[in-house]
Amino acid sequence: MSVNFIDIADYNTKDLKKVLLLAHQMKSGLVSPTPLLEKTVAMIFEKSSTRTRISFEVAIKQLGGTPLILNSDDMQLSRGEPIADTARVMSRYVDAIMIRALSHQTILDFSENAGIPIINGLSNLSHPCQIMADIMTIEENFNSIEGLTISWFGDSNNVLKSWIDAAMKFRFYLRIASPKRYQPDKHLVQEAIDVGAKIELFEDSRVAAQDANVLVTDVWVSMGDQEGTRLRDLRAYQVHKELFELARYDAIFLHCLPAIRGNEVTAEVIDGPQSKIIDQAENRLHVQKAIMCHLFET
Ligand code: CP
Ligand code: NVA
Repeated sequence: MSVNFIDIADYNTKDLKKVLLLAHQMKSGLVSPTPLLEKTVAMIFEKSSTRTRISFEVAIKQLGGTPLILNSDDMQLSRGEPIADTARVMSRYVDAIMIRALSHQTILDFSENAGIPIINGLSNLSHPCQIMADIMTIEENFNSIEGLTISWFGDSNNVLKSWIDAAMKFRFYLRIASPKRYQPDKHLVQEAIDVGAKIELFEDSRVAAQDANVLVTDVWVSMGDQEGTRLRDLRAYQVHKELFELARYDAIFLHCLPAIRGNEVTAEVIDGPQSKIIDQAENRLHVQKAIMCHLFET
């Protein structure tokens, strides 16, 4: 069995911390490992991407490897070729596969059949590389995530799912503010709480923002979602200046991007001095390098 990076929940805290430490060390130039020399990493995209695509391509090159970017529409997959056949064939050509998938099951099917490391570059269910970069950004600002309060506002989407996974592995308080019918699955939250995650659900954004260290949000309509009444339903969960002022004086704002100013966050907050979105995007590069180092065990 090859080691994959499909969900934070699959990892132990020790390895996650090791990955983060290496990411910080690589960012500061302390180490420059090249575990991908002579290796090729393929990337399959079933959905659009700016950061994931570019940061992975640069990361693979910086680790000494060759990136191979594949648009799923150009592959026989889009004409119905089974994932199992695609995965088994690809494993004869390349050394690892990063996938951005419409369905999480596609990533699991690749991992079952490929026999080489599979990395989740976002699915409908989760976005683990993003949350590793978010934690790295939080560590840069507060040294450690332990004991901090991270408050999430808006839709319970793939990015939030990886935050819930992270809450099982790192000791921080996760507050989730959303309308009742947009709250995460009760069983998922309970399972996380049962293994030690500190998660609280709120319908009132203001209560969730009170004295928080990190305010985080994401688009109200994720790729593959229907807009429906989402913009109206989530309006009260916008992160704006008045909400931000309820947090601690040194609180930071995070957003995985792309963002829609005027929807989930105001321009004043996302472009303000406490927003760390560009560092957060940069950290995708470092953390993904560290994840690939871990997968190739240098
Ligand atoms: N945050 C993120 O994954 O961005 P992209 O969709 O641009 O890759
Ligand atoms: N939740 C968003 C994240 C984009 C990086 C989406 O899935 O579209």
